[in-house]
Amino acid sequence: MDEIEKQLTEFEEYEEQFNPLQTSRAARRQRPRKKKDKRNGRPAPTLTDIHQMGDSGSSWVPSYAAALDPLHHERRWVIDSVAPFYRDNLISDVTRLVKGGKEANVYVCTANTAVGLDFAAAKLYRPRMLRHLKNDAIYKAGRQLRDETGKQIKGRRVKLALRKKTNFGKQVDIMWWINNEYSVQKKLHDAGADVPEPIAHAGNAILMEFIGGRYGPAPTLNEINLEPDEAGALFRRVMDNVALMLDLHHVHGDLSAYNILYWEGAITLIDFPQMVDARHNPHAFELLKRDITRVCDYFGRFGVTADPVDLTLDLWRPYMGRDW
Ligand SMILES: Nc1ncnc2c1ncn2[C@@H]1O[C@H](COP(=O)(O)OP(=O)(O)O)[C@@H](O)[C@H]1O
Ligand SMILES: [Mg+2]
Repeated sequence: MDEIEKQLTEFEEYEEQFNPLQTSRAARRQRPRKKKDKRNGRPAPTLTDIHQMGDSGSSWVPSYAAALDPLHHERRWVIDSVAPFYRDNLISDVTRLVKGGKEANVYVCTANTAVGLDFAAAKLYRPRMLRHLKNDAIYKAGRQLRDETGKQIKGRRVKLALRKKTNFGKQVDIMWWINNEYSVQKKLHDAGADVPEPIAHAGNAILMEFIGGRYGPAPTLNEINLEPDEAGALFRRVMDNVALMLDLHHVHGDLSAYNILYWEGAITLIDFPQMVDARHNPHAFELLKRDITRVCDYFGRFGVTADPVDLTLDLWRPYMGRDW
């Protein structure tokens, strides 16, 4: 079994037993009952043993994980997922959970000096999410398969395996997905888009610039009310980003007030796994229109008037008339 498959299987249990949004009391109530001891009479490891082992064989236990019950599934999942970033000297600690969503959990990390940032955000995809990606037909239509270095994979074997959903297919798919989010985010950041700077990716995790401060993460737009005098400029800034993305052949595909952060008067676009290539995806126009409509709906609440269909056509027509 390949490494990613093994990880997926190991952590799928985590999905069923842990919901990060529950209060700790509720979570405690849901804690899995201990399984029958299969250690053939050997004593169960004590709390100290587990703590020292760091669960995954390494001695490093970030403080967020150390504060969790040693038998809690999230503990091992976090340690294993971020260990590569620790080994590569990118982070020295994981301190708190920013948000646990349906698809991923995001954690605050303390970045090492060489990274040039105080904090980093680690986005850890949930195993089930990775498995379900395979059924997400709209976003995949017309997509180009790429290997780890971003080079296009053309082999018949790869395409065949994907279609048949063999283990090899699954592996290519998951690698493709994480790598795609990372490389798209890198490309956008390099081009000057307002997205968090990506730092690294490994297994099911992406490490990136943390948007927020010492006392907490930036809120998403849907969590805040804008002042009428800032709404117009922020709206134009979001639309500039949408235009820049399209210029690079990308449509976000899941843009809304939920995927835009607000910090110190500036916006940052996040969450790129659904990103589609406007050159190849037959749904690109519809997705662009939906993205722009959601943005207009949000800013409309704060006095911005704009016609989403006109705005979409204003971007799409010149794009289609362009020489690729
Ligand atoms: N770089 C970041 N800095 C600060 N908070 C972040 C960052 N990336 C994500 N978040 C927070 O984590 C949440 C989930 O991240 P997101 O990428 O949107 O994943 P999901 O697929 O679960 O929606 C976001 O709504 C946001 O609150
Ligand atoms: Mg999101």
